[in-house]
Order: sequence, then C-alpha cells, then structure tokens
Amino acid sequence: MFNRKLQTTLFILVVGAILLVSVGGKRRGSKRLTTQEITATITFPKNFLWGTATAAEQLEPTDASDWASLVRKSYAGKGNPVANAPIKNLHKWSKPVIQYKTDHERKLATDVALMKELGVNSYRFSIAWDRLFPRSNMALPDATAVQFYDKLFAELKKNNIEPSVTLFHFSAPAWFFEAKDGKKGWERNDAVEHFSRFVKFVVDRWGKNVHVWCTLNEPMVYIYSGYMQGIFPPLEKRPNEVSIAPVMEALLNAHAAAYKIIKDRAAKNKMQALVGVTQHTREFAPYRNYAILDRIIAGKVEQAFIWDFTDAIQTGVLNITNTDIAKTIPGLKRTQDYIGINYYGRFYIKSNIFNPTKFEVKNHDKADTNEIKNELGWADYPIGMKTILLAAASRYALPIYILESGTANADLNDKLRQQLLITHLAEVANAIKDGADVRGYFHWSLIDNFEWAEGFDARFGLVAIDYENNFLRKKRKSFDIYKNIIQSGISAAVYNSAAKAYLP
Ligand code: BGC
Repeated sequence: MFNRKLQTTLFILVVGAILLVSVGGKRRGSKRLTTQEITATITFPKNFLWGTATAAEQLEPTDASDWASLVRKSYAGKGNPVANAPIKNLHKWSKPVIQYKTDHERKLATDVALMKELGVNSYRFSIAWDRLFPRSNMALPDATAVQFYDKLFAELKKNNIEPSVTLFHFSAPAWFFEAKDGKKGWERNDAVEHFSRFVKFVVDRWGKNVHVWCTLNEPMVYIYSGYMQGIFPPLEKRPNEVSIAPVMEALLNAHAAAYKIIKDRAAKNKMQALVGVTQHTREFAPYRNYAILDRIIAGKVEQAFIWDFTDAIQTGVLNITNTDIAKTIPGLKRTQDYIGINYYGRFYIKSNIFNPTKFEVKNHDKADTNEIKNELGWADYPIGMKTILLAAASRYALPIYILESGTANADLNDKLRQQLLITHLAEVANAIKDGADVRGYFHWSLIDNFEWAEGFDARFGLVAIDYENNFLRKKRKSFDIYKNIIQSGISAAVYNSAAKAYLP
C-alpha cells in the first residue's frame, strides 16, 4: 500500500519535471549587473540620438480633447474631492494647475534651455490633434495652436535640437467620439479621413524638420486602458480580445495612412523620414517559476500586448493571440521603418489553474523584500531592457529607438531614477554590443507632468515642477547623471557621482 503511494507520487513528480522542462515558457530571473560591469567604461554609438520625451496632453493646456472632458468630470475645485472621479486626486490642486498642467506653453523657452543644458540632441513630443482641430470639419486649424507649435519648432532649431514628432499620444478631439452612423472614435467610417487631415497639416507645415516620426504611442496601452479596463477615454469595458479587434484594426489603418502621407511628403522634400509606432513593453515574468501555467501565460501576454500590433504591421495581417482572427489590412504591410520601444520594468503573471483566462498581472512581488520598485509600485528590472531590445532586433531586423524609459521618483535626490539611468543605459549598450541596432534613447520625461488617470501625483521628470509656486522648475540629481552619460558614457566617475541606495 505504502509502496503504491510512493510510486504514484514519484510518477507524478517525474511527469511534472518532464513537463516543466519540455513546456518551457518564460522564466523569472534575478540577474543584475555587478559594480564591476557598471564601472567599466561604457560608450554609445557616435550618431546616437539622446533625448527626452513628453506628450501634449500631459504638458499643455487643452480644452477640446477627450481627456479635457474627463478632467472636467474629475475636478470640482481645490479641496473638493469628486466621488468616483476617473482621475485621481485632482482636488489637491488649484485651478491654474488643472488648466495649465506644467505651464510649458508659457515656459517654452525655459524648457528648451533645460534640454540644451542637458546636452540632448533630440526631443520627442506630440502635437495635439484637438488643439489644431478643436471642432470637426474646420477648414483651417486653430491659429493660436499653430503659432505655439511654430514657436516650439523654431526654439528647437535655434538650439540645434532635432524634433521627433508623435501624432497620437492617447488623446483625441472630443468631437471625434461623438457617434457617427452608430460608431464613434477610431471605429467611425470616416476616422482615417479625419486623422489624415490632421496628419497632412502637421507634415506639410513642420515635416521638413522631422526625421523620426511616431504615428501611434503605445496602441495596446491605449486599447487596454480605454476599451477594456475603462480608465482612459472612452472609458469602455469590453469583455475580451475579440471585442477590441475593431479598434486595433482601425488604429492600424490610421497608422498606414499616416505612414503614406509622411513618406510621400519626405520623397517630395528629398529627405529621409523614419516612421514607426512605439510599444509599451515590460518583461512579462511568471510570478512562480514552478507554475507552468504562469510561464505559458506570461509568454502569451507578451505576444498579445507587445508583438501582435507590430507583427501585423510587418506582415500586413492582424492575428490576435488567443483568437482565430486573421485579418488582412490593405496598405499596411511593412509600413514601419523602425521599432519603437518604451520600457518600464517588470510585470508578473499569476495564473489561476481553475480559470486560466482569469490571471493576475502584478506590478511587483510583495513577497520579494529585495525588489526595487518605484512610487507607483512598478518593479525595476534593468536586464529586461536588454532582453526586449534583442527580441525586437531578432524579430524584425529593423533599427530600434527607445522612445521612453523612466520612473516615478519625486525626491530632488532621486536615487531610483539615478540608478535607472545608469543600469538601463548599461543594458542598452549591452544590447547594442550583442547586435541590436539601437539608434536613440529618449528619457521619460523632461519635466514632471500630468500622468493620465494618476493625476499629478506621480513624478517622472528629470526636472521637478513646483506646481503651486508658479510652476517653478527644479533640476533633480538625475539631470546631472544623464547629462554626464550623454557627454561621455557610463564610467566609474558617473557611478561615483550617483546615490548608491539602489546601485550594486
Ligand atoms: C506613456 C506616457 C506615460 C508614461 C509613464 C507611457 O505609458 O506613453 O504618456 O506618462 O508611460 O506612465
């Protein structure tokens, strides 16, 4: 009797072990660079683009965007919390903060001077569709908005900073979401037509100055947050991948149209323009290495969240993981000249064996007391930067731009951000050494700004903003670290000048 039990247990263990090895899936690692590896001099390619990144809705006053409507719903004056407000904690702030966000519009010259001092040669920003076309069917865009962007391009040019433009960064005109023929937003039959009108204007007016274009920022974050989780406009809660397919398809169509407009214009101007989208990436790791299902689902989620969209652009066919959708999209195939990567650390996948579709995504592991996490609870994981860059390189054999990387850390002595710059850029250098054609790094962000549903609490800037003190700019310690890395790479000197709290 006892022997039978033992035999069965052994049998289960052996089968389990075989399955674990053969099924594979993703694994959770814990490797970090050593002090020695970080202090060995690390340099970057000669023509590397060094930049900072921002987005219009997060910096500029907006009035006619879908987000502006959401802000209005979430704000009833300082000290007056709104019950169930879609955006967190806006009641902490006075009206000018809500309206002017960072006051970038009036402090444009100061902000460009900061970039100059930082030593970047490029600046990624977005142009607000809703500011240029606050009403539908306007024949000409709003003159004041045009003037503002004219000034921005002129200021950048004066300072020898190359503009890199994003066309859709999460916000759109509110009118675009009014129903037309029973459809709204990107799913309207005339969506591409409206978006193209905006893109054409931008390309005609400012295109001569732009070599790196991003048509869509993080389409999958936009879709998950806006159409499944319901925390971004249009605040929908669709049940599954099949129900978001029409939005993916619509965004792919919008991308293809923008790609063509930009490339046609660049050919006319006899200039080179590189066009792509940028993806929000994380290292998707199993919460428990021993759980086969965690490992398998982590791989599936990575495919769905990071690669489905760029795969579709590469092949011209939208295949959505876990569905049998296979939709050919005319004019889409190979409309990307580079892969855009935004990297923000690690997510853990914890599955539920009784209900495999109901898995948890954790932004850190509570049980791991050594884990470094930021002020939003996001797990720091430098080596994941290298992994994702090498994965992108081997999938597509295209140039790569890191269009965002950064963290939420408010202190002026921002130990976490200092560490992030050093360790993540060291991993970028490693990926380049291993063959990834990485052409640039844009830190998110230049200044603190409006962090979407998180409101103004999360601080991502190399430069802090004192919101209630005339939006005063104050450089954080990481500003100098980044500046030194841009000047001469990573070295013992850079390492020694940084706070050591999170460095090896
Ligand atoms: C977005 C930014 C955002 C940043 C930090 C990215 O997902 O593109 O707009 O502020 O992450 O959350």
